[in-house]
Amino acid sequence: MPQIIILPHVEYCPEGTVIEAETGVSVCDALLTHGIAIEHACEKSCACTTCHVIVREGFDSLNEAEEKEEDLLDKAWGLEPNSRLSCQAIVDEADLTIEIPKYTINHAKEGH
Ligand code: FES
Repeated sequence: MPQIIILPHVEYCPEGTVIEAETGVSVCDALLTHGIAIEHACEKSCACTTCHVIVREGFDSLNEAEEKEEDLLDKAWGLEPNSRLSCQAIVDEADLTIEIPKYTINHAKEGH
């Protein structure tokens, strides 16, 4: 089973953590299953950006982002070349290292 290393995030996992994911599930579902309550405001239908993650390792093992995802990512807070919407990124065989950005677009709007 591939492992996902989650880098420390103040709110979701202050110490960072490592979880085991099943091949074929989305990164978002893998996180939620393991108690990391990442936002997913559109219920994983590729219509928001709150599930944005940055894939520090293993990016190339993921399925390719579709155009709709790319368009949405352009609006995400803290966009990086290895950004993905976690509900659209499907875990393959490879281990991943994931960083959850400090803010989502919802926070940014609230002026934090
Ligand atoms: S939960 Fe909205 S795009 Fe992933």
